[in-house]
Amino acid sequence: MTQDELKKAVGWAALKYVQPGTVVGVGTGSTAAHFIDALATMKHQIEGAVSSSEASTLKLKALGIPVFDLNEIDDLSIYVDGADEINPQMQMIKGGGAALTREKIVAAVAHKFICIADASKEVDVLGRFPLPVEVIPMARAYVGRELVKLGGLPEYRQHVVTDNGNIILDVHNLRILDPIALERTINALPGVVTVGLFATRGADIALIGTPDGVKTIEK
Ligand code: 5RP
Repeated sequence: MTQDELKKAVGWAALKYVQPGTVVGVGTGSTAAHFIDALATMKHQIEGAVSSSEASTLKLKALGIPVFDLNEIDDLSIYVDGADEINPQMQMIKGGGAALTREKIVAAVAHKFICIADASKEVDVLGRFPLPVEVIPMARAYVGRELVKLGGLPEYRQHVVTDNGNIILDVHNLRILDPIALERTINALPGVVTVGLFATRGADIALIGTPDGVKTIEK
């Protein structure tokens, strides 16, 4: 099976967690895009979705799924999204698609985070994938210097402006042994909007696409 077939398998497998009559939290990326395709098949049974990016909003609307502003929603049962890496503690690196801040906000509101990922995203220790950090543009150099002090090698993601008008630094050379501590440390730097470590609030359920089928891991 190709990687995209594995992503499709988990995107469709997540449909079983969608409760009729609810608003569904929807993530960003190629795996989440498969979930949106699947969700469209039951669009008349759900109220709609809240989206973590302009790209997902466009796709949801194109498929006829109503998109709500998160501020209109006081209860969100699930948030379904991909990941760049996931460890056995269900902590993740996210933000490869630059949508980390909105992803973290929607995930914070949801009762359950359902991570959908192909098996290549499973790691023992987070950090092989460069850690995305969304930064206010004027703080780029300062935050970069602080990330070097933490042992990282930050790289400015060229030609990318986030949906919030900010820039992304991708931090290489990290072996993240204490993801919660690093998430707190980086989030506390002035100028950082969000770090793409989802450790304090990790996934509750992971659907992992393998050549032998979809593996379900529950916290
Ligand atoms: C976007 C994300 C994505 O979930 C992550 O990059 C995985 O993407 P894909 O499903 O395309 O492999 O965090 O900001």
